[in-house]
Amino acid sequence: MKIIVLKTAEEIGIEAAKIFTDEVKNNPSCVLGLATGATPVPTYNKIKETFSQGGISFKDVKTYNLDEYCNLPKNDKNSYYTFMHEQLFNGLDILEENVHFLDGNATDCDAECKRYDDEINNAGGIDIQLLGIGNNAHIGFNEPADEFTSGSFKVKLTESTINANKIYFDENPMPEYALTMGIRQIMSAKKIVLIATGPKKAEAVRNMIEGPVTAQVPASVLQEHDDVVIFLDEDAASLLKK
Ligand code: GLP
Repeated sequence: MKIIVLKTAEEIGIEAAKIFTDEVKNNPSCVLGLATGATPVPTYNKIKETFSQGGISFKDVKTYNLDEYCNLPKNDKNSYYTFMHEQLFNGLDILEENVHFLDGNATDCDAECKRYDDEINNAGGIDIQLLGIGNNAHIGFNEPADEFTSGSFKVKLTESTINANKIYFDENPMPEYALTMGIRQIMSAKKIVLIATGPKKAEAVRNMIEGPVTAQVPASVLQEHDDVVIFLDEDAASLLKK
């Protein structure tokens, strides 16, 4: 794991965005795995800024998002589909047909998860996967569990995740289920960039980096990947011993 500690979320956004825009410049038809949440927003802003300055196109880039809520209309303001369009895609020249999500409203979730995994594999796999981390060290929506998951699947969200994310759901209750890429699918990305900012992430960050590899700390599996870059601000890094 390559660990980079920077002062602010904005500085992290600049450095993380550069990894993605450099990839797009070098490999214009790359496959990107993308994440939601507040953490990647500075990175997405910087990617849009770099795009607006010219010399880079996302027309041949394919994206696959990590996860999506179940039983939430695709265009709901809280769907990850809406989030990604508002925070990133609407500011790029990416083609709608090249942005991909799990369909949280599928009637047959197993078939939907298989379709998604097959599509990622047929696209040649993910070149760079962006990750945030939950307060309980979840990645995507892979909650602490007895064993590491494999491909995409339907998950019941834990109380910790519901408490962290329900602030976004004002009038309607937050969904209790989601579809998410599985751990092994995430681990098959060629490169992984994880960002964690703020004091609430400090314990999860310590367990991810300095604790044992265990499915109870889903992000700890990243210790086994040979190309991971972890960006932390000083608060998120505050409990690290080394
Ligand atoms: C959600 C997403 C994760 C994300 C996490 C942290 O649960 N499924 O992919 O990493 O939230 O979100 P935030 O960045 O808002 O702290």
